[in-house]
Amino acid sequence: LSPSERSLLDRVPVVPVVVVDDLAQAVPVARALVAGGLPVIELTLRTSVALDAIRAIADEVPEILVGAGTVLTPGQAKEAVDAGAQFLVSPGATPSLLAGMADTGLPFLPGTATVSEVLAVLETGLTEMKFFPAEASGGVPFLSSIASPVPAARFCPTGGITAASAASYLALPNVGCVGGSWLTPKDALAAGDWARVERLAAQAAALG
Ligand code: 3PG
Repeated sequence: LSPSERSLLDRVPVVPVVVVDDLAQAVPVARALVAGGLPVIELTLRTSVALDAIRAIADEVPEILVGAGTVLTPGQAKEAVDAGAQFLVSPGATPSLLAGMADTGLPFLPGTATVSEVLAVLETGLTEMKFFPAEASGGVPFLSSIASPVPAARFCPTGGITAASAASYLALPNVGCVGGSWLTPKDALAAGDWARVERLAAQAAALG
């Protein structure tokens, strides 16, 4: 990614957060998201095939920006880079995880859920972060409340957001995009219903 492309918050209104159980789902789901107008995918490192899914998408769907989500350790950050990930997302952040993700050279969104965590991330020089778990941690009222006291921080809220609630997050001045798994329901992936994923992606893309 060139420096001007390093912001992860301004590419798409909704970052699809995807849990792939079967490697065969990876490339078709990425193609369906692109067809729906969302050329970004966050593959969560929650299943045994996740790294191979990142590798397959990086190889076969060059038009999508593929990243790794649920990065919990510096070792996982390194594994994700080796698999071809182009960005990283973590649900929370410790000093060693922040350093490990920074060491990869990739753009990344560390997870935050409190004002002190937001300030700790800002201290490292980063201004973009994930807000997770968004709904459980205060949702729109939380983000709206910190926009004025902590204006430097910009967020991708994720966790519990739906097609119905996404727009209220996107209307906030400190939100660039939201993340969510509602575009790629487990049953649609299992059934190979790529048309449904494409439709859900197109509806999400229209929120931009
Ligand atoms: C994440 O990893 O960001 C979340 O699991 C996505 O949250 P959701 O499944 O509630 O959309």
